[in-house]
Amino acid sequence: MRVLGIETSCDETGVAVYDSVHGLLAHNLFSQVDIHAPFGGVVPELASRDHMRRILPLIQDVLIEANLESKEIDAIAFTKGPGLAGALLAGAMFARTLAFAWQIPAVGVHHLEGHILASFLEEEKPQFPFLTLLVSGGHTELVKVSALGNYQTIGDTLDDAVGEAFDKTAKLLGLGYPGGAALAKLAEKGKPRFQFPRPMVDRPGLDFSFSGLKTFALNTVQAQGLDEQTKADIAYAFQTAVVETLVIKCRRAFKETRFKRLVIAGGVGANLALRKGLQTLCDEHQVTLHFPRQLFCTDNGAMIAYAGCQRLLAGQRDDLSVEIKPRWPLETLNSL
Ligand code: KG4
Ligand code: ZN
Repeated sequence: MRVLGIETSCDETGVAVYDSVHGLLAHNLFSQVDIHAPFGGVVPELASRDHMRRILPLIQDVLIEANLESKEIDAIAFTKGPGLAGALLAGAMFARTLAFAWQIPAVGVHHLEGHILASFLEEEKPQFPFLTLLVSGGHTELVKVSALGNYQTIGDTLDDAVGEAFDKTAKLLGLGYPGGAALAKLAEKGKPRFQFPRPMVDRPGLDFSFSGLKTFALNTVQAQGLDEQTKADIAYAFQTAVVETLVIKCRRAFKETRFKRLVIAGGVGANLALRKGLQTLCDEHQVTLHFPRQLFCTDNGAMIAYAGCQRLLAGQRDDLSVEIKPRWPLETLNSL
């Protein structure tokens, strides 16, 4: 089965074609970062409008890249939620209408299921069951994945998501929006000068809290001023604290679940210091670590095409009444 995937939950328009036999055939992405950067965050109305502008040209390009005609697409998968309502509507309307015109089925995909399954786009695919550390701009969760579609959140953030904390701290350091990747780059030049706290590690359980780190960064900036080396040192201290905190919680989750596989998912999964920290932890515990290539950690159409393909193969379809779910708990998904 050949599936066209369409992702529009936030500020990236992603499209891809996934083939259940031959794997990923083509993918394409337009990032709206430059549109939202002057506002210091995503402007929902501008996001929706830009998705409308980009989707069809991106689909046309992806079909050319895959050397396919529209009649060779068997089904369409689109992001149904969670995400920005207007952005989701743009993608859902296009996807459902195209599927209607092409007389093929369509299925709405959970954005986080897409992230969780992104590692299946790689050569070495994880086997079930596994533990997922899902770290994105909107989510920080430890998820037990017993089977495809069977997700149980065992740790969650009480306030900011990791990506959000990265972005807010980056903004403080004058690195623009979204600043996660820029902060990570700056941290490479940082020296171990400041000691940031490791939030919630002295309490039992698997929940997270990251808003305190951002405040700690603010206080450090106010006390120290912001010369170039201090900026890099703060970036280093912040990133080290985040990585260590995530590593400690994953170690606990290994003990609790006894799972022998860890999958990293979501935009912050692109962070190399985090990958390194988790690799060391996994080596110590004889756990196999899986992560998607960096470009499939952040939002993309390939993960939606893949997840949708699995659901379509299991016979799942959305009917003609276009529905989106801006809020959609992962646990409510049906197991395949
Ligand atoms: O998964 P994603 O693309 O979108 C959501 O579904 O939220 O994640 C975006 C988040 C942003 O907060 C961004 O700053 C962060 O991922 N991010 C990074 C890196 N690359 C992206 N954070 C830290 N280090 C990176 N290299
Ligand atoms: Zn995402």
